[in-house]
Amino acid sequence: MSHRHAPINPMCKNMLHGGDYNPDQWIRTPEIWDEDMRLMKLAGCNAASTGIFAWAALEPEEGKFTFDWLDTIMDKLAANKGYAVLATPSGSKPAWMSRAYPEVCRVNADGTRQPHERRHNHCRTSPVYREKCQIINAKLAERYKNHPALLLWHISNEYNGGDCHCDLCIEAFQNWLRKRYNNDIDALNHAYWAAFWAHTFPGFDYVRPTDRSIHCLMLDWERFKTYQTIDFYKDEIKPLRQHTPNVPITTNFMNGHDTLDYWAFAREVDFISWDSYPNWHEGNDVDEAVKTALLHDQCRTMKQGKPFLLMESVPSIPTRGRVKKRKEPGMHMLSSMQAVAHGGDGVLYFQWRKSRGCSEKFHGAVVDHEGSEHTREFKEVAEVGTALAKLDDVVGSSAQPEVALLLDWENGWAIREGARVFLGENCKYREECAAHYRPFWQMGVPVDVIDQNCDLSAYKMVVLPMAYMLRPGFADRLKGYVHAGGTAVMTYWSAIVDESDLCFLGGVPGDGLREVFGVWEEETQSYYPHETVPINPVKEIAEGLSGYYQAVDICSVVHAEGKTKILAEYGDHYFEGMPAVTVNNYGDGRAYYIAARTRGSMLSDLYGHLIKDLGLKRAIDTDLPHGVTAQVRGSAHEQHIFLMNFNAHTTDVLVGSGYVDILTGESVSKNVELEKYGVRVLRRTA
Ligand code: GLA
Ligand code: ZN
Repeated sequence: MSHRHAPINPMCKNMLHGGDYNPDQWIRTPEIWDEDMRLMKLAGCNAASTGIFAWAALEPEEGKFTFDWLDTIMDKLAANKGYAVLATPSGSKPAWMSRAYPEVCRVNADGTRQPHERRHNHCRTSPVYREKCQIINAKLAERYKNHPALLLWHISNEYNGGDCHCDLCIEAFQNWLRKRYNNDIDALNHAYWAAFWAHTFPGFDYVRPTDRSIHCLMLDWERFKTYQTIDFYKDEIKPLRQHTPNVPITTNFMNGHDTLDYWAFAREVDFISWDSYPNWHEGNDVDEAVKTALLHDQCRTMKQGKPFLLMESVPSIPTRGRVKKRKEPGMHMLSSMQAVAHGGDGVLYFQWRKSRGCSEKFHGAVVDHEGSEHTREFKEVAEVGTALAKLDDVVGSSAQPEVALLLDWENGWAIREGARVFLGENCKYREECAAHYRPFWQMGVPVDVIDQNCDLSAYKMVVLPMAYMLRPGFADRLKGYVHAGGTAVMTYWSAIVDESDLCFLGGVPGDGLREVFGVWEEETQSYYPHETVPINPVKEIAEGLSGYYQAVDICSVVHAEGKTKILAEYGDHYFEGMPAVTVNNYGDGRAYYIAARTRGSMLSDLYGHLIKDLGLKRAIDTDLPHGVTAQVRGSAHEQHIFLMNFNAHTTDVLVGSGYVDILTGESVSKNVELEKYGVRVLRRTA
């Protein structure tokens, strides 16, 4: 991970600000286009993601192309010193295509073809759809390759992991399986443990992705959908690479969803972008901030620290969520700066101007139906524009975390498919990752969010919550990492199955990790919501553990083996006195094991101790009040520290002197007062 990266497109050295721009919805009122340009300038917007759902406007009949309106828009953007994040329109197909070539529509598991409606539902295998995409993409690229407004490519929109069971997809899946299992159906049957319930497949042509009782089959289906979507994407971008080799390419991820494996996708895009829609003010804003921060960090880590783009966010009110709550004053600035603090080089919205009709007509937008710059949402967006314009020095800089948290996509699928039957509602993999991330966030310690293919050697500590499925080679690398002096913290429900979801034999944690952690997890059980089990620290040695803690949801019965030290033990039940938290010295490193999901301060006590003990770098050397975090970008000489208060009340942070607040220009001495949802960006002056 490096501190310094080139801007996403070196043509623009500023933070990007703007959003989904859909001028094709306003084709009857071109005066609105001019008004858009005036308002974009006022809001400090320099980036318009254009044409995302414009296929029907660009090719109203097969082979008849109408680019004149887009020419006008591109020219207007350039004249306004703005840029286009130009989209390929495959996220939504035109009606003539579904009628002429029904194969472009997906097929349900029962064999019925989906009607032409909604969006994001094309068959990813269909050669016709791929060809039509390549034609329109080539036209766009040829036409705008030398246009001064063209900055970036926005491929399709939110590719997803939805199923298509058409013959083409099923055949492609079976061929993918043939490759994966070297044409050996016995190998597939072994991986699927198909002897169970006499599920043995006589040949690859028997395999269909519908039987959820065969866990590895469903895992392979998820893997295939990622593979096939990337393959589709690779076809989409061919003409763009050909005509515009220097224009960086991205596709907007829906990070945080269990859909496609974005780690695999990350290798194929030039930079990461994602769409973030937290539910502010629904429950606890601090919880929501932690979850969101983790996802931002993951986006930064996916490209080895390279800054990402917040491609979509909402300036005011999202239309998902149970209750439609408006961002309170301050929250828009705070959540936008949060993205920047964690490595974002731009803040974009869905969408620029509110649509007059259809399902998202009330979804927040920069320009309201009212149309002026006098709304609260417009003013708040303009304030973000002003702030971003002061952050040019931040562009391209990154954090260099010493802690990594493993949040592995395939493991998430494996827990969903393979562990769901056993753990039921208590799986909560992503929630558990957030719980382990939270103490670092609260103490201002930057974190990388890795997957099992990442190199561990750069980190002083690696945290592994519920690492249930281990891919080949990972356990050995973890072992080597600890042996060479690394610190690993792993939890219950880890190292249980291999990549085929086959349980390791010889005890949990498997794959050689029993020796590393010095524990044998004999039993794991899941609890009802009202049940808790006390956990008591073993006082004399308990590294940082001092309170009385509780286990909830999932509890394991663990035996400490060899010289493993017990730091805390269960205080009740038939396993009273047995280990709940342990540490084992292995080689030059240490391996901690947490046997249960916990509630209360246990994780922050333990990680707080480890942060001190290992001397992990914090963004700022001070204790942060609850709900306040500090994140850092850049190296010691040119460092920016983002102080963010996610509480709905004012709070003080003792920062000491030697800083200037680059949003206000004031120098800071000693205390910084952070108002409700306040944010400060500090630069060291000394
Ligand atoms: C998504 C889509 C947008 C829009 C927004 C708001 O993430 O990419 O087109 O639908 O959500 O709901
Ligand atoms: Zn299909």
